[in-house]
This record gives sequence, structure tokens and C-alpha cells, in this order.
Amino acid sequence: MSKILVTGGCGFIGSHTIVDLLENGYAVVSIDDNSRSLAYAMSGIEQITGKKVKNYKVDLKNFDETRAVFQENPDISGVIHFAAYKAVGESVAEPNLYYENNIFGLINLLKCVQEFQVPHFVFSSSCTVYGNPDTVPVTESSPIKKAESPYGATKQMGEQILQDFTHSQTGLSTILLRYFNPVGAHPSALIGEIPLGKPQNLVPVITQTAIGKLPKMTVYGNDYDTRDGSCVRDYIHVCDIAHAHTLAIQYLEKEKNKTRCDIFNLGTGDGVTVLEAIQMFEKVSGVKLNYEIGPRRAGDVINIYANNNLAVAELGWQIRYNLEDMMRTAWVWEQKIHEAEQKVKSN
Ligand code: WQD
Repeated sequence: MSKILVTGGCGFIGSHTIVDLLENGYAVVSIDDNSRSLAYAMSGIEQITGKKVKNYKVDLKNFDETRAVFQENPDISGVIHFAAYKAVGESVAEPNLYYENNIFGLINLLKCVQEFQVPHFVFSSSCTVYGNPDTVPVTESSPIKKAESPYGATKQMGEQILQDFTHSQTGLSTILLRYFNPVGAHPSALIGEIPLGKPQNLVPVITQTAIGKLPKMTVYGNDYDTRDGSCVRDYIHVCDIAHAHTLAIQYLEKEKNKTRCDIFNLGTGDGVTVLEAIQMFEKVSGVKLNYEIGPRRAGDVINIYANNNLAVAELGWQIRYNLEDMMRTAWVWEQKIHEAEQKVKSN
């Protein structure tokens, strides 16, 4: 049984990917320092799969502690690297925090991959690397434009580091997965997104507004050159993103990769506006959202969605969840969190 190391395993996409890997016969260990996640995710994973996963509470910036995980697990045959900070606004305010954490952590991890001769590596990248595209949908060969934020710059640098590192190693093959907008939650509502502090991303803002945690929400601009004036994104269910990681590992194990560092877009291929996302949520939840139209948000990309043909054709990836499923699972998860919080308050 192949053993996969998942970094950021307690996080939103990391925890869903661990579930998918376990359901597809892999053994898994996790590294997560829980600076931006809760160890609680591991119990959700166990409830869903019936399998216990060990999480090493290690900061990847600590090389010795990171190396010790590989020493204790010499049978690691693949690494899926999620652990990184990802708040666009925070990265503008504190760029050094992002360069140190996202780049230094990656370099330490790659030193271990080299020393322990790990053959397969999958990197969590982002559509952010495309910046504001000239044409949509974007393909994997669409131009990489200047990053709109230090966060985006760390994803572009991470891709470059991995391409150079992979070509310097014999026996290592790598895949870069460029996510569009991951949303929703596992259908069991035992794992999902837990934004720490005030959420920045659209769907958690919608669900927290609907549950009453936030008094209202703002649509950042409806005067863009789009069909209803609000920005267009490619929302993709987190479980579809998770399964693509399992397929990526299988693709490398079967040596189906065309190059030493193949790249895939992970999006549905459908562009959805902010107002359309809100309308879908209201339809699914039956809740009328309290929102107002406000000024544009600095750094926002106007319109981006994926051409996902490569991932579908090469990885055998099939999208299983639609926008309705995304909103429904996000809403059920939000209600679950709220219920748990109320219980804690009443104790
Ligand atoms: C989506 C749209 C906002 C909140 C995210 C992640 C980034 C990367 C790509 C992984 C925009 C609008 C939002 C609100 C709003 N993911 N919005 N009111 O900016 O596309 O980036 O996906 O790598 O890490 O941040 O996602 O959800 O923040 O915004 O109107 O209260 O929703 O203006 O048009 P974004 P988002």
C-alpha cells in the first residue's frame, strides 16, 4: 500500500484529499502545525473513513522536525503539498510572512524529498498565477501575468522552484494543480472549511451571513464588464478537487506523465458571477441574503474560469458536484458548525 504524506492535512482541501486517498486504498500521514487549521479535522476524517491518520504537528520552516517525519516514515512514496498561507489581503499587508512561510517551507520539504528519494510530488497551485487573463477560459498554456498579490507571487515562485528542482533530480516527477475557487464541504458534514476569524472568501461569507454570524455582506462591485456587472469565477467543489489529487498520484505511479512536471487546471469550466452564486444559495437554502452592493475590492480579477480539458482527458477527472451541490453542502456544514458552537455556549 503506497504511503502519501499530505502537508496541511488538517486544512480545508488537505482534509478532503486525505479522505479521498484513504477511500482509494492509500496509507496517509499528515504534517500540519495547526497555525491556520484545527486538529479536529483528523477526527472527522476517522468518522468518515473509519481510519486513523497520524498528524505530525510540525512547522515546515523547522527543517529538523520536518526531516524527522521522513525518517520515521521511510516508505513515503509521494508528497501532496498544501501547507501554505493563502489570504490575498493578508499577503499584501505582510509579504514577508508569506515569502518566509510559503517558500521557506517548500524548500525544506524539497530537501527531504531529495534526501529520502521520494519519487512523486503534487503541488497545490492556483488560478491566481494567471492574474487578470486577456481571454477566458484559461488553458494551462495561458500567459502567466504579474501576480496581483504576494500570495499569488508565492504560487508562481513555487511552480518555478518545483520545475527547476524536478529537472535537477533523477527519479522525481511532479504535478502542478491550479485550483480555481474551491468551495462546499464533504456531503457527510463531518469536515469542511473553518475560516479562522472573519472570512474573506465569498462562500463562507455567504453562509455566515445566512446563519446570522455576519449582519450583512457586501458584493464588491456590480459595474464590471460582465453579464450582470459582478465578477466571474469558476467555483469547484472541494471533493472534486480532492479526487483530482488521488488521480494525479495514480497518474504519476503509472508513469503516464508527458513531462517531468505536468500542469493541470482544476475548475468546472463554467464561469459564475457573484450575484448568480448568491441567487443559487438563496434557492438552495430558502434564506434571503442580506447583501448590499459596495465598491470594488482592490486586486480582484474581473473574469476567470478554466478550460479543464487536460485534467479530464489525461487524469480521467470527472466533475461530480454542480453549483447547487456546492451551495447545499456549504450551507449544511455552516449549520453544523453553528449547532456545535451553540452547544459549547450553552455548556
Ligand atoms: C470571489 C469573488 C470577490 C467576498 C480565492 C482565494 C485565493 C485563490 C483563488 C486558492 C470576488 C467576491 C468575496 C465578499 C464579494 N484560491 N466577494 N464579497 O478572490 O477569487 O480568490 O480563490 O488558491 O486564495 O482567495 O475568491 O472568494 O475571495 O472572491 O463580493 O464578501 O467574490 O470580489 O469577485 P478569489 P473570493
